[in-house]
Parts: sequence; structure tokens; C-alpha cells
Amino acid sequence: MTTVKPYDLKGESKKSEVRRMFNSIAPRYDLLNHLLSAGIDRYWRRRTIGLLRGLANPLVLDMATGTGDLAIKAHKMLGCRVIGADLSAQMLEVARQKIDERGLQQYISVVEADSENLPFADGSFDAVTVAFGVRNYENLDKGLSEMVRVLKPGGLIAILEFSKPRVFPFRQLYMLYFRHVLPALGGLVSKDKSAYRYLPQSVMQFPDGREFEQHLEQAGARPVRRISLTCGIATIYLGQKQ
Ligand SMILES: C[S@@+](CC[C@H](N)C(=O)[O-])C[C@H]1O[C@@H](n2cnc3c(N)ncnc32)[C@H](O)[C@@H]1O
Repeated sequence: MTTVKPYDLKGESKKSEVRRMFNSIAPRYDLLNHLLSAGIDRYWRRRTIGLLRGLANPLVLDMATGTGDLAIKAHKMLGCRVIGADLSAQMLEVARQKIDERGLQQYISVVEADSENLPFADGSFDAVTVAFGVRNYENLDKGLSEMVRVLKPGGLIAILEFSKPRVFPFRQLYMLYFRHVLPALGGLVSKDKSAYRYLPQSVMQFPDGREFEQHLEQAGARPVRRISLTCGIATIYLGQKQ
């Protein structure tokens, strides 16, 4: 897997560039998310959390929680406690404001943490969720094995990530949008052109489908379900800790 970095600067690690990029776009992140996906991301998040409905009062870790949308959705749909963790202090600041505005402080807390080195004991959580996070990890395998480490045996990991549509002519139309319209619009609104050039580049080089499941298996989670969303623009991977 080649490493794609947001700013492609010499001597700066992917992790440091990713943190800087999300700190920079945090105030406009939610607006752009809903705008660029025409709101479909809300449906994708609902489907992801829906897969955890069988768990009774779980403790959930929402990794790469960003501005907290998936963590809030998990609490709303499952009535559970959630810890959201992320590298970017500015993204977490937006998440905190949303949690406070909704009066959810006793159910959802957020913490600055790196998925590749988590400050939690083995087997702490019933479920781990991640939306659009794993593609940004500097070391995917380390990030996945840390998330599996903090899961209880039998616990579930639900990962929502962009994938590559394969069906003609949807693929071709989508690629036009993804490679040209999205970077232009994203750059304009976020004022960070590199961030929205990085998005399609990072998706193109990232493993999807069966290839991604192999990484999950290597990390110690058995793939249980794979759900292709919106003609393959995104995929949910559900795994279970062995
Ligand atoms: C595209 S945002 C997704 C945010 C949120 N999950 C959502 O669905 O809107 C990706 C997030 O991953 C975080 N991230 C990237 N690498 C990380 C790492 N190694 N550990 C923790 N968070 C990370 C970034 O800071 C950013 O907030």
C-alpha cells in the first residue's frame, strides 16, 4: 500500500499531516460532509450502528470519532455509553460542543488518543466503531490490531469506509465527481485545497472488499458481514473478535 499524505511534505509523518489537516478543516467538516455526500452519510451511519442492535447495553468505543456524529448516533440508537477518541483536538472540540448542546455529557465522553496506541486495557469494550477513519491511519494494521485488542472476546467491530464503485457506468460518473467536482467544492468551502485532493487519492489507494477483510482477519477479528452501500461508494465491514 503506497502512503498518500494530505500535504505531501518532506520529513513530516502521515499522522502529523492528518492531525494538522483535520485541525484545519474542523469548523467546516460537518457542513462539507453533508453537502458533498448529499446527506447520504447519515443513512450510512444509521446502517453501521444498526448492526450492533443485538448487543445489550454495550460500552462502545467510537474510534476516529472526529466531530462525534457516529458516537451520538450510537448513543441514540442503542441507548449506550460511548467513548469517542481522535487524534485531532479541534475535531474533538466540535464533538464536545455537540454533546453539550444535546445534554449527553453523562453518556458520551471524548478523549484525544491515537488508534495505533490506545490508552485502554485489553478487553475494555463490547463494540468498536469507526467511520471514515481507518483510511487515514498511518499504520493500518497497527490501528486495526489496537482496536481489536481493546475489544472483549466475542465483541464486534463495525467499520464504515469509502470503497471503489465497480459497476459501469456508475463508476465512471462517480469518478468524475470524486476526482474533479468534490476537490473543487471541498477546497472552496474548507479553504484547504489539499484536504479535498487527499480524499479521493487516499480512497483510490486504500484496500476495499475482500482485501480489507484480510487486514481485519490479520488483526484478530473474523469478518462477519460486508455491506456495500450506494452502489459501492462506501462499505461497512463487521468483524468479531476471536
Ligand atoms: C474523515 S474524519 C471522520 C470523522 C468521523 N468518524 C465521521 O464519521 O465524520 C477522520 C478522523 O480520523 C482521525 N484520525 C486519523 N488517524 C487517526 C489515528 N491514528 N487515531 C485517531 N484518530 C485518527 C482524524 O483526526 C479525523 O478526525
